[in-house]
Amino acid sequence: MKAEQATTAPLLFFDTGIGGLSILRESQKLMPTAPVIYAADYAGMPYGMKSEEELSTRIPLLLGRLVERYKPQLVTIACNTASTIALDVVRSVLDIPVVGTVPAIKPASQMTKTGVIGLLGTKATIRQPYVDRLAAEFAPDKKILRFGAPDLVYAAEARLRDEVPDPKIISRAVSGLTDQEYGDQIDTVILACTHFPLVQEELQKSFVRDIQFIDGSNGIARRIADLTQHVIWPKSPKNGVFVTTGTVEQLSSYQSALKTFGLTTLEAL
Ligand code: DGL
Repeated sequence: MKAEQATTAPLLFFDTGIGGLSILRESQKLMPTAPVIYAADYAGMPYGMKSEEELSTRIPLLLGRLVERYKPQLVTIACNTASTIALDVVRSVLDIPVVGTVPAIKPASQMTKTGVIGLLGTKATIRQPYVDRLAAEFAPDKKILRFGAPDLVYAAEARLRDEVPDPKIISRAVSGLTDQEYGDQIDTVILACTHFPLVQEELQKSFVRDIQFIDGSNGIARRIADLTQHVIWPKSPKNGVFVTTGTVEQLSSYQSALKTFGLTTLEAL
């Protein structure tokens, strides 16, 4: 009988910048030897300040090119903004499984004791009907205070370059939640942008009370593992690829952080 072959078809993760690494990190805990392509649309960053029309065209086009080039077995849109706007259209144009990242409202609703939840996302994410639907379905009896914090994306990018994020950006994001009515009762905060877990420590320091933070990364990693449970992964990890729509030169200050994720080959799309 022929021995079963380990797969070479990678998992592809997609975000505007390094935010999706918060999802890759969880995924690598479950599937440490899965080949990885990490795609960052730096040329299109920030998605959070773009219109729905622009993103619904840009994201499927880009993912189409990426899938053609890298032939992944599964795509993870590791970006809340892209997922809440373009998940359906991407699924309709790709013929491989697509996993999305949407705000973790369901677990947050089960975790809160005070019934007041903060939701930090990009400006585009917090206005999505997708978020209204999740809130109506999973937290109808809870208060969800939303705040769009576009600068926090840049604070997370700085953190990965080993720089200290601007404390003003952090405190603005926190007071954007706590200054709202009932804001002083927030005990749970949903990090509804994949960049934000990278500055969770800084956010906690800026809150007066102890906060439970929740993001979707864990559940998404489990979903990817579930959808690929038939796959035989290689015995040892291969070098991963980080592909950018920007320039490779722009990535030099991220290089040592990317190495810790096994992303040692840098390419431009
Ligand atoms: N990481 C992306 C998200 O989860 C947003 C970054 C951006 O605004 O480009 O929404």
